[in-house]
Amino acid sequence: MTADGSAARLKVYRGDGENGEFVEYETPMVTGMVVLDAILNIQAEQESDLAVRWNCKAAHCGSCSAEINGVPKLLCKTRIEEYEGREINVQPLKAWPIIKDLVSDVSWNYEVSRSTIPFHSEQQAPFTMYEEDVERLYEPKKCIECFMCQDVCHVLRTHEKHDVFAGPRFFVRNQWLQMHPMDDRDRLRYLKEDRGGIQYCNITKCCTEVCPVGIKITDNSIIPLKERVADEYYDPAKWLMRKIRGRKNGASNGSVNGS
Ligand code: SF4
Ligand code: SF4
Ligand code: FES
Repeated sequence: MTADGSAARLKVYRGDGENGEFVEYETPMVTGMVVLDAILNIQAEQESDLAVRWNCKAAHCGSCSAEINGVPKLLCKTRIEEYEGREINVQPLKAWPIIKDLVSDVSWNYEVSRSTIPFHSEQQAPFTMYEEDVERLYEPKKCIECFMCQDVCHVLRTHEKHDVFAGPRFFVRNQWLQMHPMDDRDRLRYLKEDRGGIQYCNITKCCTEVCPVGIKITDNSIIPLKERVADEYYDPAKWLMRKIRGRKNGASNGSVNGS
């Protein structure tokens, strides 16, 4: 990269959840630079206490997610040039409490993660699997846990249903678990009655639009899970069977650690 002599201007949120404001900064513009480069330059040259979370700088770890002009983005994957002629306002993810500057407290997501019913199989690995199963399970494993889909989902962001809704990232994870041919647990009760709250999703696809690794969250995770929940809960024959036999086998309360 070569410096071209021009300057990048950014407004960066400075403060915590109680008090804060956007502060304007100018940094040397370098061809190809990403927003994280500008933030780190400001931190190095002007504001050593500017808080920003990052790790890989290669769009792999999911740490640097923040909002640019109100839209969740990976700071390390977003070029300054994309905003030519426009303001660049950088702020932390909004769906969770702000700790400081560009860092919000995403620990709620790890609580949801701990509530997920883990993989379980009576069979011993290595498993023999069909190619189509392997292909179907590949996409959800691409998730880098940036939580940008969680941030943009109006069920969390606007309606704040954090107590009863797991969010798109965890629908992706449950899809992998539920569709794994060797797994023998059932997560439909978790998704419908316990922590999942999948019925709150109205398939707006906002989550899919922001996923930086291109997971088709709504089409490939949420809709298939909703179909399975609908079959289980609203098919009259299955509804009757559930009444007769009680809770589904293996659909334990999900309060287990792991996977
Ligand atoms: S499709 Fe569902 S999970 Fe995704 S953002 Fe919309 S409401 Fe949220
Ligand atoms: S599903 Fe996509 S947007 Fe959501 S946490 Fe994973 S990588 Fe990020
Ligand atoms: S620093 Fe790892 S994804 Fe941006």
